[in-house]
Amino acid sequence: MQFPQKGRGPDELLTELESLKAGDVPWAEGRVFAYIYDAGPVAMQLLKDAYSSFLVENGLDPTSFPSCLALEKQVIGMAIDLHQGAANAAGSFTSGGTESILLSLKTARDRARDLYPEISRPNIVIPETGHSSFFKACAYFDIEPRSVEVDDETYCAVPADMEAAVDDQTILMVGSAPSYAHGSVDPITELGEICLRHDILLHVDSCVGGMYLPFARELGVDIPDFNLSVPGVTQLSMDFHKWGYAAKGASSILYADGDMRDYQIWSWSGWTGYSVVNPTVLSTKSGGPVAACWATLQHIGREGYLELVETCQHAAASIIEGIGRMPSLRVLGRPKTNLFSIASDTIDVFALADDMRARGWYVQPQFGFSNSPANLHLSVGASNAPLVDEFLADLGECEASLRERDVAGLREMPEDMKVLFLNGADDNLLEVLERATGVDPDKLPERMDSINNLLNQMPAPVRDKLLADFVNRLYSNA
Ligand SMILES: Cc1ncc(COP(=O)(O)O)c(C=O)c1O
Repeated sequence: MQFPQKGRGPDELLTELESLKAGDVPWAEGRVFAYIYDAGPVAMQLLKDAYSSFLVENGLDPTSFPSCLALEKQVIGMAIDLHQGAANAAGSFTSGGTESILLSLKTARDRARDLYPEISRPNIVIPETGHSSFFKACAYFDIEPRSVEVDDETYCAVPADMEAAVDDQTILMVGSAPSYAHGSVDPITELGEICLRHDILLHVDSCVGGMYLPFARELGVDIPDFNLSVPGVTQLSMDFHKWGYAAKGASSILYADGDMRDYQIWSWSGWTGYSVVNPTVLSTKSGGPVAACWATLQHIGREGYLELVETCQHAAASIIEGIGRMPSLRVLGRPKTNLFSIASDTIDVFALADDMRARGWYVQPQFGFSNSPANLHLSVGASNAPLVDEFLADLGECEASLRERDVAGLREMPEDMKVLFLNGADDNLLEVLERATGVDPDKLPERMDSINNLLNQMPAPVRDKLLADFVNRLYSNA
C-alpha cells in the first residue's frame, strides 16, 4: 500500500469503507453472540449522531472543553447512582474495560507504595475466571497475579481458597460480577469480609455486567450483592459499551472512597510543553464516546434497560433450555443471566462453532483452562432474541451431525507435534503449526477447528507465544 498521491472524493471513499465490511461477522442480522451490543435502530442512530456531534471536541483539556467535563461528570454520576456509591464516591470515564482495570491496579500499586512502603513485591489475588486484563495490568505495573482455582460446579471464586492466597504483600483482591466466560457472579460479600480482615482493596469487575445485573436484580433474578454498597468493595469497573449500548470506547472505574482517585491522576509540567494532567490513560481524546454514552443512557433510561434485560433473559433461558435437549451439550456452571458457555464430553465444540459459522452464526470458541473445558461462549443480546428458534434449529442439526461424524482425529495432537509444542522448544511455532495443519499462517482459514484443537492442547504460555506470533504476522505490511 502506497501513500496516496491525490485525494479522492468522499462518496467513493465511504463506499470503499462500507465494502470492507463484507467479510465481517453478520452482526446486523442478529446472528452474532459476542462483540456486539445493539439496542435497535433508533438507539443506534442516536449513538452515531451524538458521537459525531462531539467527534472533534478534545477531552484532553476540561478547561478548554467544559462540555466534555460536564458530560463525563454526569455519566459517572449516573454510574455511581446505579451502583449505590455513597456521597464521597468518585470515578473516571475510560476508553474500555481494560483501561478501567489498568487504572484500578495502578491506583492500588501507587497507594500501596505511599501507605505501605514495607510492601516491596505487591501481588493481587484473582480467581481463574478473572478477566485477562488484570494479568495485563500486572505485567504493565510489575505486580504479581495470584490466580486461584474456582469451584468446578459453579465457576465462582471459593472464599477460603482466595483468602489462603493472601499474604503480607497482597494489595488487592478481584471478584467478577459476572465473569465473561461462564457468567458466574463471585461471592462479593464474602470476599469483602476477607478484604476488610486483611486490610486490602477489593475490585469488583462488573465490566460486562455493570449495566445488566442491576436491572436483572430489579426484575427478580437471584443475583448476590456486588456493588459499591457492599462492605469491603473499594473499586468497581463497569463498561457502558457493552450492555449499556454506548459506542465503543466507554467504560468507567468507580471508587467507593473518592480520595483513592488521587493515585490515578497523572500530572506533568517538567518539560518545555503544556502542562499535562490526565485522570486516565489517554491524553488527547475525542468527546464522541462520552457524548454518545450520555445520550444513550438518557435515551434508554431505567425503564428501557429493564425491557432490554427482560428480552435478553427470555432469549437466554430459551437457548439454555434448548441446549438441555441436545444430548451431547451441556451448559457450564449455573448462569443466571445472558452470558454462558456450552461444552461437550463427546463432540468437538470447535467443529460445532465452524459448522454454525458456515450457517451464518457466530459463537465464540474458548480454550480449556484449569477446570474449565473447551467451550463455546454466548452473550445473548436483544438483537438475537427474534432468532432464537432458528438458532436452536441450526445448533440441533449441527450437533446431531457431529454426533455421527468421527472427528476424534482432529482433536488429538500428533505425537511429534506434542513434543515440540509441549516443550515450547521450537522458536518458530507458527511453522510447526503450518506443517501440522496445512494452514497458511498468513491467512485466516475458513475452518478453525483443527487449529483450535491443537491450541487447546498446548500449555497456555506456549499458546500465548504462538498466538502473539500469529497476530504479529496478521498485521504484517510486508
Ligand atoms: C468481565 C470483563 N472484564 C473486563 C473486560 C475488558 O473489557 P474491554 O474489552 O472493554 O477492554 C471484559 C470484556 O469483555 C469483561 O467481560
